[in-house]
Amino acid sequence: MTVGIDQINFYVPSFYVDMAKLAESRQVDPNKFLIGIGQNEMAVSPMSQDIVSMGANAAKDIITEDDKKQISMVIVATESAIDSAKASAVQIHNLLGIQPFARCIEMKEACYAATPAIQLAKDYLANRPDEKVLVIASDTARYGLESGGEPTQGAGAVAMMITQNPRILELNDDAVAFTEDVYDFWRPSGQSYPLVDGALSKDAYIHSFQESWNEYARRHHISLDYFKSLCFHVPFTKMGKKALDSILTDDIDEQTKERLTSGYDAATYYNRYVGNIYTGSLYLSLISLLETHHELNAGDTIGLFSYGSGSVGEFFSGKIVEGYRDALDIEGHKNLLNHRTEISVDTYEAFFKRFDNLEFNHEVELANESKGIFYLESIHNHIRNYNTLN
Ligand code: COA
Repeated sequence: MTVGIDQINFYVPSFYVDMAKLAESRQVDPNKFLIGIGQNEMAVSPMSQDIVSMGANAAKDIITEDDKKQISMVIVATESAIDSAKASAVQIHNLLGIQPFARCIEMKEACYAATPAIQLAKDYLANRPDEKVLVIASDTARYGLESGGEPTQGAGAVAMMITQNPRILELNDDAVAFTEDVYDFWRPSGQSYPLVDGALSKDAYIHSFQESWNEYARRHHISLDYFKSLCFHVPFTKMGKKALDSILTDDIDEQTKERLTSGYDAATYYNRYVGNIYTGSLYLSLISLLETHHELNAGDTIGLFSYGSGSVGEFFSGKIVEGYRDALDIEGHKNLLNHRTEISVDTYEAFFKRFDNLEFNHEVELANESKGIFYLESIHNHIRNYNTLN
């Protein structure tokens, strides 16, 4: 019996900003954003898409009527929570029409939380062949207009159905987590934007990766040539590349170096056009790898590094299942990314400010959304009301 990812899907809002234009507007050389940070486009969330609606939108296309009866736990991982008490998983559970006898919780540890959610689901399902766990990673990454972190923003959600005998990726029993108390990025309660020490956050990420990987390799007697490819948490595509390069030392053979480097390009292709989606970034990278890498085979092992500032890192692995491509929505994902609307820097700034003031203007914001999509319709007395677009 194996447990792993049976279905995986993502949702991103239908608006984006071109990073070269954002750079020009900030009087920065565009190559800093395009090459130095490694981002081409950045998803921008309208007021009508919050972590609940994006999470529901990511999940709705992978859930069948039978799934709704079998899901016994919904876990939402987020670091942009809209409530300090009520779990967004409860609202998503309602929107999706999942049977009522289910656990719903929200998990937090910066960008890392979807990984312990999956590991929890894996252990939970070991003795439950007829149940399923829905894990959703949903975030709006906001650092502030003209802030240092502005080019590393984004918005989106990834939904994963975790089951026994999965159709996409079997999770191995090998995870190694590494915890270190560091103030590289944090958001004190009540603050709209995170506090971040950019340089420290890059160093802390690489340190966490090296500690997790070295301990993983030591415990399991595994070296890099064991992996077909590696996926990283991707706050921006250059970040994971720095971490990867840090372990491609002179003693690693050229074939392995080339394989992992070209695999990294496939594993960050979607991220390059979405930006940082915090908890979902590693799993968007996994989707990108599965859908854009042309030489993956059943039985290949993929290494995954999850990182959440503060910090917790985790290195684990999964094995690709025969016929995995049939379980992916490759065309749907390409359409979602290719049919977004580019907005000017001025419009992006207007969207951004509306989030701060919780202002709605649906005529503009829903113009290009497709039918059946969940959206936030209003907030009355601090209660969020959702609807679907018909
Ligand atoms: N052409 C090409 N590259 C250029 C360039 C140009 N004209 N100008 C600068 N660069 C490169 C820099 O050399 C640097 O590359 P390096 O890291 O390989 O040295 C990169 O662009 C970024 O430059 P930097 O000066 O570090 O940018 P910054 O001070 O604006 O900070 C972040 C960048 C990512 C740290 C900042 O956006 C941030 O704090 N983001 C949020 C935190 C985050 O995502 N942390 C990641 C770990 S979770």
